[in-house]
Amino acid sequence: MSFLDFLFGKKEKSVLGVDIGSSSLKVVQLRKEKGQAVLETYGELALGPYGGAEVGQATNLSPEQIAETLRDLLREAKVTTKDCGVSIPFARSLLTLVELPYRKDPSEQRTVVELEARKFIPVPVSEVQLDWFVVPERDPSQSAEKRGKVGVLLVAVHNDELKFLQGIVAGAGLASSFYEIEIFSTLRAVVEEPVKPVMVLDVGAASTKMYVVEHGVVMVSHAMSAGSQDITRAIAASQNLPIARAEELKKKEGLEAGANDSPELVFSRIFSEARRVLTQYETAHRKPVAAIVLTGGGGVTKELGTYAKNLFSIDVRVADPFAKTEAPAFMRPVLQEIGPEFAVAVGLALRKLEER
Ligand SMILES: Nc1ncnc2c1ncn2[C@@H]1O[C@H](COP(=O)(O)OP(=O)(O)OP(=O)(O)O)[C@@H](O)[C@H]1O
Ligand SMILES: [Mg+2]
Repeated sequence: MSFLDFLFGKKEKSVLGVDIGSSSLKVVQLRKEKGQAVLETYGELALGPYGGAEVGQATNLSPEQIAETLRDLLREAKVTTKDCGVSIPFARSLLTLVELPYRKDPSEQRTVVELEARKFIPVPVSEVQLDWFVVPERDPSQSAEKRGKVGVLLVAVHNDELKFLQGIVAGAGLASSFYEIEIFSTLRAVVEEPVKPVMVLDVGAASTKMYVVEHGVVMVSHAMSAGSQDITRAIAASQNLPIARAEELKKKEGLEAGANDSPELVFSRIFSEARRVLTQYETAHRKPVAAIVLTGGGGVTKELGTYAKNLFSIDVRVADPFAKTEAPAFMRPVLQEIGPEFAVAVGLALRKLEER
């Protein structure tokens, strides 16, 4: 912003979050106004029809095909900026919490981490982008200095994956200043509790991502290959329907769709895996997980929140990422309903706003 813009209050520039999911692309455009994140536009476009699959099903498209879809989406959603941040799929990244030798001197610590990281990354370090965070110490009697060990979250993304994403961004005529593993974007958009451990369940199309975050640190992360596309397939099978019709039924009736409790059967598989991860965490850390946040397109499923609340004996809520943005009151009910699907895109746009 120039000095004149500052004096006359010229609008700050708009920014865009771009979530490249397996079944659809999502974008959210925000602008900062008086310190608030104002929602300018958002949109979603299914990838299926661009790759011979139905809406709601996962795809495996080339960067060119994804870029083409993204161009269509930018046009449809009337996106007016090129400045964006882009998500990296959790499945394409490596996240591990490890204990490494402690060094008081930060530059020595860096050397130790970079050397030791090699042991935990299954490919040559030159083939990945490596990032890491020291887990903050909370119990002084267990400090890194005393233990001689420090907790480090290692994050690695293969160069090929970044090239793939860069190809899409260039093909769509966008400019990205960062690529972020979707987990971190989601956390920024949906987790309120700064202190207590919270579990996030991102029910996507092909997979469900589950992670426990405490003090802002991802302590456990896990993915299973069951997601909302499997619910559509189960509904289709239970009533002998085409996939497209089953997808419509799922969106209309949620847990009640199909015959023989088909959606519930898939969700009970997902939730029992989540319970296993949750219990493991609680046992290892000797403290309860305070809440579960449901997100991803599967999180939009009607009555899912109530169903999950009855299943887990802790607080369960459906993510409302647009609550972090300013929007006209009449849009609130819709934004609340579709919100879980846009968590990653909102989180990316929020980070992009902070860059300025
Ligand atoms: N209203 C709804 N009710 C039930 N399911 C829904 C609803 N809206 C979307 N979905 C389902 O959510 C899934 C898409 O979720 P999402 O957009 O989070 O996935 P993705 O990001 O493309 O996939 P992934 O995260 O696995 O890469 C689809 O299978 C879709 O059918
Ligand atoms: Mg997703």
